[in-house]
Amino acid sequence: MDTPGGGIETGFTAAGGIVNFSPEDAARLETLLRWRRDVRHFRPDPVPEALLVRLRTMMALAPSVGNARPWRVLSVKSATLRAAVRALFEQENRVAAAGYDPEHAEVYARLKLAGLDRAPEQLAIFMLEDPEAGHRLGRCTMPETLHQSTAMAIHTLWLAARAENLGLGMVSILDPRHMEHLLQVPEGWRFSAYLCLGWPETHDDTPLLHRTGWQENTPTVWEER
Ligand SMILES: Cc1cc2nc3c(=O)[nH]c(=O)nc-3n(C[C@H](O)[C@H](O)[C@H](O)COP(=O)(O)O)c2cc1C
Repeated sequence: MDTPGGGIETGFTAAGGIVNFSPEDAARLETLLRWRRDVRHFRPDPVPEALLVRLRTMMALAPSVGNARPWRVLSVKSATLRAAVRALFEQENRVAAAGYDPEHAEVYARLKLAGLDRAPEQLAIFMLEDPEAGHRLGRCTMPETLHQSTAMAIHTLWLAARAENLGLGMVSILDPRHMEHLLQVPEGWRFSAYLCLGWPETHDDTPLLHRTGWQENTPTVWEER
């Protein structure tokens, strides 16, 4: 059967079928969005395999330029590799801290910016820089749409994880070339992000960076012309 989820059964079988979401569905989505957080504090309990399979299915539903699905996921299981990622993070984090004035550097040093120490699942996300799929539709004029598509897949996974009461934390304080080298990825895979996944220690409806005073939430600038 032709399945819209990239060979993965989605439950929707007919093109042009009508699915009406209820106000309760919309309210639940709002709750999900309000309680989605970047999680850096995890309980070490394992994530059942069935849940991971489900998250894979959900991620495959993300939109992408030309339907190219340029993201690739590498599940990092090896303790040695995880330790090496942590070392790369610490190195880059020191560089980042050194770039601030003393007052900000002191606050920065106190922020926890990754759950690498405890997250039971760790996913390195890559992006194909020149995928065959999609036949370049949409990216001839905007090559950055491949990055945008990969970010959307990450966000889809983020929301799907939250809906399963899991937490996800995105780590970008990593040197992309070092990550590609460390994980020995095929030619043309560009590092996009490292994701920590697991059961959050606590739930919150407010970003940690807002709570700690590093950066408050600001409203979206939304203008008309
Ligand atoms: C592209 C991207 C990169 C990020 N990189 C990091 C990171 O390296 N370390 C970190 O602690 N949080 C990282 N975050 C999480 C943001 O800090 C977080 O989304 C933001 O503070 C808002 O908090 P919330 O996600 O809980 O709403 C990243 C988020 C995005 C979208």
